[in-house]
Amino acid sequence: MQKYEQFLCFKEYYFGIVFFYLFNSFTCSKSPLSFLVNYLYLCLLIVGMKKIQMVDLVSQYEKIKPTVLPLIEDIMSKAQFINGPEVAAFKNELQEYLDVKHVIPCANGTDALQISLMSLGLKPGDEVITPSFTYIATTEVIALLGLRPVFVEVDPNTFCIDPKSLSAALTSKTKAIVPVHLYGQSANMEAVMSFAKANNLYVVEDNAQAIGSDYIFSSGEKQKTGTIGDIGCTSFFPSKNLGCFGDGGAICTNNDALAEKIKMIANHGQSKKYHHDVVGCNSRLDNLQAGILRIKLRKLDAYIQARQKAAGMYDAAFLENKQITIPFRSSNSTHVFHQYTLKLNGVNRDEVHEKLASKGIPSMIYYPIPAHKQKMFDHFKIDCSLPVTDSLTTQVLSLPMHTELEEEQINFIIESILDCLN
Ligand SMILES: Cc1ncc(COP(=O)(O)O)c(C=O)c1O
Repeated sequence: MQKYEQFLCFKEYYFGIVFFYLFNSFTCSKSPLSFLVNYLYLCLLIVGMKKIQMVDLVSQYEKIKPTVLPLIEDIMSKAQFINGPEVAAFKNELQEYLDVKHVIPCANGTDALQISLMSLGLKPGDEVITPSFTYIATTEVIALLGLRPVFVEVDPNTFCIDPKSLSAALTSKTKAIVPVHLYGQSANMEAVMSFAKANNLYVVEDNAQAIGSDYIFSSGEKQKTGTIGDIGCTSFFPSKNLGCFGDGGAICTNNDALAEKIKMIANHGQSKKYHHDVVGCNSRLDNLQAGILRIKLRKLDAYIQARQKAAGMYDAAFLENKQITIPFRSSNSTHVFHQYTLKLNGVNRDEVHEKLASKGIPSMIYYPIPAHKQKMFDHFKIDCSLPVTDSLTTQVLSLPMHTELEEEQINFIIESILDCLN
């Protein structure tokens, strides 16, 4: 029934009737039963093709397949799996795209954050300020390294770290801030950087969700997110705006000394072959993933535009609805819409989520439990009040957002949401 509803909104349905009527008339069978069977088969085909997904990586792959397959074949035939030429080329191309001095590829976004914090020479018990409203990786690595996460509030509009909350979180042990560019839009980096400078703190940007986004300074000058703080971290998880076909990540910095240290840490703390100067780890982006990322990096701006177009359609449809708050557009940042996340007001969000699912429309809750309420941090005996964060966890709902969304699908999602709210 749900698929049938989804199916009904497509004009192919009506063309299908005409097409199949004609097809049946001209082919052998004229019985109504055969017509019905054939037509149901067509319905299934169309419904299958048009299934709405949160992220449609298969359709995206189909479009780059002619470039990807020869690359895979080439790498396989040369058995260039680790530290191959694609890694070096990707590193250079990403440096150019981001306009940053150093990119150090690594195994995933979580490693990128961990290695970055390791490079700062912090001591156990040092404090790192970070929002609680984020993916767990941001905060988990802080605790993993024996540091103390200090959770602060997010801005009620951007859902990114609220610079006004920083001074209350500052102690003599504070050493760093990890702002997160949530959903694809930059945190207020000017305010974060000026607080960090005044208090001699490092800034490590979690740019996993915002690669390609521009931060716009009050002077009008633009700079890519992830290149503003001391270090920026990103993830190439498949569903990310720049995603590979497995795990991948990268660290970027304009600081030569930090870059050297980061390279060393990511490679077993090795300064030269078999000389291990610091305790490090093994975190590499493999050659195959780097090659795929090179292909997708060339398309990143077009991918972002496709996401922005879909977001524009959602925005226009929901703008006037009082039960819905559309994603805020900060004047200090472009939005690359890793997620298109609504805030639902005076509505049972979970009910909407379920009703949409019953119509065949997936939606997600990023994030239902804030970090400061996660059991893994119980031993820190965290005692903080974060009302904006807490209320967001009950209000946010992310809609399907990817590069392959079709207008008919978006319209169907919009109609269904408005239906659920009536
Ligand atoms: C904000 C944020 N930080 C860090 C990560 C971790 O990236 P990865 O999954 O590549 O380890 C993610 C990935 O989902 C993320 O969304």
